[in-house]
Amino acid sequence: MRILVVGCGGREHALCWALRRENPDADLYCAPGNPGTAVEAINLPIAADDLDRLADAADMHGIDLTVVGPEGPLASGLADRLRAEGRAVFGPSAAAAQLEASKAFAKEVMASAGVPTSASRAFRDLAAALDYVSRHAEPLVVKASGLAAGKGVVVCDTRGEAAEVIRSMLQEGSFGDAGRTVVIEAFLEGEEISVLALTDGTDVELLPVAQDHKRLLQGDQGPNTGGMGAYSPVSMATPALLDRARRQVLLPALAEMRRRQTPFNGALYAGLMIDGTGNPWVVEFNCRLGDPETQAVLPLVSEGLTRCLWKAAQGTSPTPLVLRKDACSVTTVLASRGYPGRPERGAAISIPADLPEGVTVFHSGTVRGSDGVLRADGGRVLSVTAVAPTFEEARRLSRDAAEVIRFEGKVFRRDIGWREGERIGV
Ligand code: GLY
Repeated sequence: MRILVVGCGGREHALCWALRRENPDADLYCAPGNPGTAVEAINLPIAADDLDRLADAADMHGIDLTVVGPEGPLASGLADRLRAEGRAVFGPSAAAAQLEASKAFAKEVMASAGVPTSASRAFRDLAAALDYVSRHAEPLVVKASGLAAGKGVVVCDTRGEAAEVIRSMLQEGSFGDAGRTVVIEAFLEGEEISVLALTDGTDVELLPVAQDHKRLLQGDQGPNTGGMGAYSPVSMATPALLDRARRQVLLPALAEMRRRQTPFNGALYAGLMIDGTGNPWVVEFNCRLGDPETQAVLPLVSEGLTRCLWKAAQGTSPTPLVLRKDACSVTTVLASRGYPGRPERGAAISIPADLPEGVTVFHSGTVRGSDGVLRADGGRVLSVTAVAPTFEEARRLSRDAAEVIRFEGKVFRRDIGWREGERIGV
């Protein structure tokens, strides 16, 4: 099989790693990839948003299956382009990717499908938005409707703060086109989990549930980031809860997308807030796998990933994944000083050769210079995943490995999985 993974972060490294484990002899390519994916695949120097060259490369290398990692190329129509040329693609069409690319659209779909989510209104007009906010309960949430690299969601304690955020988005264009429409919604209380569903547009196969850590600093302090770590499984995500997530969220949303003639095929990621009485509410939909959730969950799949992606890409029911029983995974992200604002680049990275068994280092933002030295090249630099028989052991292994990997300006959280630790008393 000839497989192309599109993207260049930790998620794509984890995908290449997992696909290589299942397909030792496959021709595996990654575009553009990074020094980590280069160990598993042949990197093609083509940007993830260069649709023409990606289509040419798929043709030239006779690609059987393309797996698209990031949302940008999906929203720009990469999957449509490749499918129009007769290729199997795991990833939604541009129309279906609107579930992530337009939060206003996602709210409409949820309303039509009866999917539980917080009450909200979308606005393009400043005066109307400010009037609505002046009567809204506190706290409240203001979201840039479009793609904003995980930065377009602001939780506001007061109406005044919300009004400032709305002005900055609608009047000053602080989020560019992504903030030309704002979604104002009620704040949801609870604990958020990431449910990642692989789907052909009708049926779903769930990856193990993960919990992300969006704030930069320990104790969930500091600015929001793309995610500073994740763990899986999450003990509060019981089979009964996942059954509800499937019946009340995933299947109705997919049915609504089919009804609109824009079936969703790929990874449907539901960020679910679980309230105090155990009810799931959708915080957001994403049209792709999560990062760093993917780095935490794929090592827990022992078999069946390629087959499942392949089936979903062909529009047939995704086949069951075989999951590792009695294994837990913790991923700690190592970021560069300055992230998420202006991360420093260029620090030389030293990864000890003798990291313990069960630890895998995924590259998120690295580059290998002409001198052969591995250097930090982005906000999130490495994702350190540890798999062990218990959560406690996986957490210790991930944290210890994060300590001994060195680069100037390294920033990471030592409390990944703290909620799970409190829940199970370790
Ligand atoms: N970790 C959050 C995301 O991938 O959007």
